[in-house]
Amino acid sequence: MNSALAPGKIILFGEHAVVYGRPALAVPVTQVRAEVEVWPSEYRGVWIDAPDIRLKAELKEVEFDHPLAASLRTLFSELGVDPCPNINIRIRSTIPVASGLGSGAAVSVALARALCAYIGQPASDDQVNRLAFEMEKVYHGTPSGIDNTVITYAKPVYFLRGQPIKTFKPRKPFTIVIGDTGVAASTREAVADLRSLWEKDRRTWDAIFTRVGQIVDEARRAIEYGKIRALGELMDQNQDLLQHMTMSSLELERLIEAARDAGALGAKLSGAGRGGNMIALAEPSAASVSAIRDCLMSAGARRVITTTVG
Ligand code: PMV
Repeated sequence: MNSALAPGKIILFGEHAVVYGRPALAVPVTQVRAEVEVWPSEYRGVWIDAPDIRLKAELKEVEFDHPLAASLRTLFSELGVDPCPNINIRIRSTIPVASGLGSGAAVSVALARALCAYIGQPASDDQVNRLAFEMEKVYHGTPSGIDNTVITYAKPVYFLRGQPIKTFKPRKPFTIVIGDTGVAASTREAVADLRSLWEKDRRTWDAIFTRVGQIVDEARRAIEYGKIRALGELMDQNQDLLQHMTMSSLELERLIEAARDAGALGAKLSGAGRGGNMIALAEPSAASVSAIRDCLMSAGARRVITTTVG
């Protein structure tokens, strides 16, 4: 049996603009994870068992354009595995689907690692990242690559599309409270909608994306100098621009407002938006974290996760 684990992730700053070549900051979230196990099957075929999405079937029986089946076919073809081995693949994940926490990318990373090990070609992080990016294209169409990168290396990343990975190190640890709206939203659609806005008025949108990129660079400096208050303000500024991009929603706004009322230093959506998760920056005290958590739950969050960066 070969198995692999991959964490979830949050984007701290810069989602969407990152697709247009601006930088973004993301960190792994180890409180949630995907796990893949691969072992030989006595029956012919690739037997998938993914209880979280209620999928139990042989690969050929799964709808051709099912994202998991399509990304598995991509993986086999990238690895030059033909014919497919007779195997069982069990996929389990505690990462909510379509919520901005990187569920698809985490499954891709864990699948690539486990399958490479199974076929006797254990892959380096760089190889896993490349394979997972090819699989991400199946889920997202035109992904920037940020999700597979932060999840593969499981480190905080300062991401620029097409550039080698750069990490960053906080001077002081800071705590992020993550609130789930419970609303599933399609990253592919959100990215496509923004692209059509951009196509109609490139000059305006390019200027907005450039401003987001500046916020990201300021945020990185704030993190590296331990300026937590400044970081909160930058989160609010990034949220204003995401709202302008039409990526917020009533549910997200409700949770963001609740977190700010509870004393968060800043709050914004995280990931593609229109649903999924928001993040709030807590004051460095347990009381602040629990006040934000309580307010998020009373404002209708489905689930709250706390994670410390640094
Ligand atoms: O997969 P999500 O929901 O975390 O969104 C990814 C972030 C985007 O910037 C919206 C898209 C991308 O490919 O970078």
